[in-house]
Amino acid sequence: MTPPLYEVRDLVCSYQGKKVLGIERLDIAADGPTAFVGHNGSGKSTLFRALAFLLKPESGSLTFLGRPTEGHEELLRRDVTMLLQDPYLLRRSVFENVAYGLRARGERRGIEDRVAEVLEMVGLSADFAGREWYQLSGGESRRVTLASRLVLRTKALLLDEPTANVDEENGFLIAEAVKNAWLRWGVVPLVASHDLPWLDEVTDRRVHMKRGRIVEAEVETDFLL
Ligand SMILES: Nc1ncnc2c1ncn2[C@@H]1O[C@H](COP(=O)(O)OP(=O)(O)OP(=O)(O)O)[C@@H](O)[C@H]1O
Ligand SMILES: [Mg+2]
Repeated sequence: MTPPLYEVRDLVCSYQGKKVLGIERLDIAADGPTAFVGHNGSGKSTLFRALAFLLKPESGSLTFLGRPTEGHEELLRRDVTMLLQDPYLLRRSVFENVAYGLRARGERRGIEDRVAEVLEMVGLSADFAGREWYQLSGGESRRVTLASRLVLRTKALLLDEPTANVDEENGFLIAEAVKNAWLRWGVVPLVASHDLPWLDEVTDRRVHMKRGRIVEAEVETDFLL
């Protein structure tokens, strides 16, 4: 049996001494996408930063595919990538934006084909590769930032609000790309979003968060409390 993607144990994260995340126990499965939902400030982005090894937890432990992560964060950043809640493009062409991460990882061969493949995956035709960063609509820019993460074919892909401020058509294309990353390559998507109908398209597996904690779906709705 394959181990979980992550096992989170007694994880505490704080900013300037203020605790914002306290998760006793959470296993995140490796056999498909998982959605993370919760109100503004419930800790989704903070958890994602810890899972992407961008934020050092104050205490607690994480395993990744069954292995302890402490002390191996640098190497593990090759297996995990995160699309930030406010992604931005480099002031370069679409091609250079998507190729950037591959080059940074020392890849030299097949870059053009791999860029073309992920542009196609996010529903952008090949001629977008030659566009400059300022020659795109908001939805297209968002899909280019997604392509720049997809191209890395990491084991885990963390997407923080990937459809904020995009219309339905772009949201559909983003959902298709996320599902295909899993179906074609086995990249495990973790997605934080407030867009529940959109999440339904991607996965029915949900982790509910409230005030920095994991809560059961049944107690998440305020009117039941
Ligand atoms: N860099 C930071 N410095 C200080 N406090 C922060 C920082 N980032 C987040 N916080 C605080 O941590 C808490 C959790 O925030 P976080 O961004 O993780 O929530 P979220 O669930 O992603 O919210 P949203 O749905 O609005 O994106 C909030 O109280 C927030 O104010
Ligand atoms: Mg957030």
